[in-house]
Amino acid sequence: MGAADDIRTAPRALATEAVHAGRDDLARQGLHAPPIDLSTTYPSYDSRAEAARIDAFAATGTEPDGPPVYGRLGNPTVARFETALARLEGTEAAVAFASGMAALSAVLLVRASMGLRHVVAVRPLYGCSDHLLTAGLLGSEVTWTDPAGITEALRPDTGLVMVESPANPTLAEVDLRAVAHACGSVPLLVDNTFATPVLQRPAEQGARLVLHSATKYLGGHGDVLAGVVACDEELAGRLRQVRFATGGVLHPLAGYLLLRGLSTLPVRVRAASAGAAELARRLAADPRIARVHYPRIGGAMVSFEVHGDPHEVIAGVRLITPAVSLGSVDTLIQHPASISHRVVDADDRRDAGVSDRLLRMSVGLEDVEDLWSDLDMALGQRPSFRGAENCASGHNEPVPAR
Ligand SMILES: Cc1ncc(COP(=O)(O)O)c(C=O)c1O
Repeated sequence: MGAADDIRTAPRALATEAVHAGRDDLARQGLHAPPIDLSTTYPSYDSRAEAARIDAFAATGTEPDGPPVYGRLGNPTVARFETALARLEGTEAAVAFASGMAALSAVLLVRASMGLRHVVAVRPLYGCSDHLLTAGLLGSEVTWTDPAGITEALRPDTGLVMVESPANPTLAEVDLRAVAHACGSVPLLVDNTFATPVLQRPAEQGARLVLHSATKYLGGHGDVLAGVVACDEELAGRLRQVRFATGGVLHPLAGYLLLRGLSTLPVRVRAASAGAAELARRLAADPRIARVHYPRIGGAMVSFEVHGDPHEVIAGVRLITPAVSLGSVDTLIQHPASISHRVVDADDRRDAGVSDRLLRMSVGLEDVEDLWSDLDMALGQRPSFRGAENCASGHNEPVPAR
């Protein structure tokens, strides 16, 4: 039987779904941990039946009943992760990919294959998402706008509106319900990587597609590269067809690790968010910091602009890891203008609020005092003039996102 089989009887809270979704059939099979199916192909003595299943998949993208024909069509371990993520995001389905960028590429290809090549997008987005749209690598054409300009930017060939909230790296937030309304009948894609379904469920606010770099919080341990799109079954079918034809599949071992990661997602996100909120408070009161960005909805990401040289802060951390990426159990810090958003044109980057002095920190599960003492050391000497503390605390509250 497939992991998608739904044997739930009552609605369940997010923390319960995180632990049980995608595993509901296990106990009846006498299993506790989910099996990892590494098969690339699946034997069948009935090729007429296989032909019918391939025809059905080609027509609708629905996963074939019974064993998959070939690993690129689907994998039972990956399907468990997809079932679980869909349950957490409150969507009918989810489709997993080899990375977040493979997931976004598949969405763009689905829309382009319907003749809808135009995308309306709000900056900032993750640097490579911005680059993919700006460079038109997949034949799409982008109009950048702010949330208030979305309706005006729509065209007859607009296939997608895309936002991130909180956005990478400024943590700017958009009103998802208002944006969804502004999209009319055009599907809204929300990159929910930073918030996770623990803090925000965009489908409930009108998003038709919810994208994750599952590399981040969903995996949660910095050892899986993955992406996933949660959506309705109609779009999921098209995404599976694109995944089959283009090959950006997720490896079953990654699917297993992601399912395991989901079971601790609510606990990790809440604990890391508490640490991040405390660090945001301390940074906001620190005279070495020009501005702190921390989202209204909370979360484990903190961004801040320093008065001094941001490269010196990166060079100065010892406990905190100076590395791109985010969402792991350990704290990471990086300089967006040098790394995550390097591929974005410098003027576009600055227009989107990504200052050259901005640092982005993904807070992990370490003790907050240890993190603060590392950060404090890396930030270097405090200004010696009297009154600096007062001056800073007067204007330097964490800036809630737009
Ligand atoms: C918000 C966001 N979306 C998408 C991606 C791309 O994901 P991946 O690196 O898994 O391809 C990233 C990567 O950092 C990201 O931060």
